[in-house]
Amino acid sequence: MTTVPQRTLNDGRTMPALGLGTYPLPDGVAEEAVADALGTGYRLIDTAANYGNETGVGRGVARSGVAREDIRVTTKLPGRHHGYEETLASFEESRARLGLEYVDLYLIHWPLPRQDRYVDSWRAMLKLRDDGLIRSVGVSNFTQEQIERLELETGVLPAVNQIELHPLLAQPELREFHTAKDIITQSWSPLGRGSSLLDDPGVTALAESHGVTPAQVILRWHVQLGAVPIPKSGDPQRRRSNLDVFGFTLTPDELALVSARPQRRLGGDPEHHEEF
Ligand SMILES: NC(=O)c1ccc[n+]([C@@H]2O[C@H](COP(=O)([O-])OP(=O)(O)OC[C@H]3O[C@@H](n4cnc5c(N)ncnc54)[C@H](OP(=O)(O)O)[C@@H]3O)[C@@H](O)[C@H]2O)c1
Repeated sequence: MTTVPQRTLNDGRTMPALGLGTYPLPDGVAEEAVADALGTGYRLIDTAANYGNETGVGRGVARSGVAREDIRVTTKLPGRHHGYEETLASFEESRARLGLEYVDLYLIHWPLPRQDRYVDSWRAMLKLRDDGLIRSVGVSNFTQEQIERLELETGVLPAVNQIELHPLLAQPELREFHTAKDIITQSWSPLGRGSSLLDDPGVTALAESHGVTPAQVILRWHVQLGAVPIPKSGDPQRRRSNLDVFGFTLTPDELALVSARPQRRLGGDPEHHEEF
């Protein structure tokens, strides 16, 4: 079984340095995947109300036999539930679907700046944290300005910002800001959604020279950047190998080689994207 190193959050809690993404696995498949992943050493599981699989994720956690306190479950507030009361109610629905007493990390899924209600949601999340129902509060797809506004209006910074991050979108300025504020960067679509990145000749050559897979090279790049990748795989073998990235090191030149490519988003632009 692979043991994953732990990262410490700005609220003093800990989180594994790599986790499992679960979108778009439906309930039944998610249950199998989560139970199997926990059995092989995964300890961080990422879901969201909008993935429609919180029930399956919760069942997988329960079935795994791994002690609850050793597992970190992340879920996310959907756009349709921004607002103070709406957030309290939405969280309770997520918690019920997950079948958990508490959620380790709760994120605002997207900022939806045109709705302008994310600060109200943030205040509700702070109450839920005070009530012991959320261990750590965070955001997803937030810009530097939006995080600064949370700090200005509530005095509390997120523990995590989960953002689109992979070699095709390396986000150096936002990562630098996170580091300065002691916010952990989580990488979504860390493998570029299984895109051409995994067939890139530079990446495959590096993989050969280290005796690993192209996906392992990319995931190691995240870890050495200081980010926490959450790759999704529905395949047990790929899940195992994706976790096994703590036994080799890329040199600075090799990291630069992985980074050196034209930049483009695969997902929505946080300044404009609206998802309910
Ligand atoms: N916060 C947000 O707004 C947001 C947005 C998007 C995603 N996410 C989260 O981030 C997670 C990961 O992102 P993602 O699923 O979009 O992309 P990803 O993890 O970069 O890529 C997943 C794709 O890569 C394939 N894959 C996985 N491991 C592989 C390997 N070792 N070799 C070859 N192919 C491999 C998977 O196929 P198989 O399943 O067939 O292996 C799947 O098609 C999601 O599941 C979700 O939890 C969050």
